Amino acid sequence: LITVLRLGHRPARDKRVTTHVALTARAFGADSILVATRDVALERSIQGVVRRFGGDFRIETGVRWRPILKEFSGTKVHLTMYGQRFEEVLPHLRGRDLLIVIGAEKVPREVYDLVDWNVAIGNQPHSEVAALAIFLDRVIGPRAWKREDFEGRVRIRPSPRGKDVIESDP
Ligand SMILES: C[S@@+](CC[C@H](N)C(=O)[O-])C[C@H]1O[C@@H](n2cnc3c(N)ncnc32)[C@H](O)[C@@H]1O
Repeated sequence: LITVLRLGHRPARDKRVTTHVALTARAFGADSILVATRDVALERSIQGVVRRFGGDFRIETGVRWRPILKEFSGTKVHLTMYGQRFEEVLPHLRGRDLLIVIGAEKVPREVYDLVDWNVAIGNQPHSEVAALAIFLDRVIGPRAWKREDFEGRVRIRPSPRGKDVIESDP
C-alpha cells in the first residue's frame, strides 16, 4: 500500500496544488492521501473524481500527522530537495508499504528525523506534484499511470484529436 501524507496545506493558498497532488497520487498508483489540515471542499472534490473516474483511492483531511508518522509500520520517505539521491534509496523502497511525506511551506525539522529516508528528486527546488510523479513512476513503474481498469462511470478513449468520452449511467 502506498499512502501520501501532505503537510502544511493552507486551504486558501494551496487549494489547486493540493488537489493536483491528490489527483497525481491517484493516477500514478498511490492508494490514499492524508492531508494534515482539515479541508472538506478538497475531500469532496477528490471523492467526486473517484466516483466519476473509478478506482478506490481514499482521501482523509484533518489528520494528526505526528502519531501517523510515529506509528506507520512500513517505510517512511520524505521528499525534499535537501535529501539524499533518489537512485541510492530506490532499491530500499520497491515492493514495500510506503508513507510518502510531502510539504507545502517549510517542513518542520522533526519530520526529517521521524522518517526512514529523506529523498531528493534532484537537489533543486521544484514542486511537490513533480516530485511525487517522478517518485511514483520510478517506484511502481509506468504500469500505474497506464492503468486502464479504473472502471469508472466516465472513461476516456485515447484519441489523436479531441475528446472521446464514454459515460455510463450512474
Ligand atoms: C514548493 S516546495 C517548498 C519547500 C520548502 N521551501 C522547504 O524548505 O521545505 C514543496 C514541496 O515540494 C517537494 N519538493 C520540491 N523540490 C523537491 C525536490 N527537488 N526533491 C524532492 N521533493 C521536492 C517537497 O516535498 C517540498 O516540501
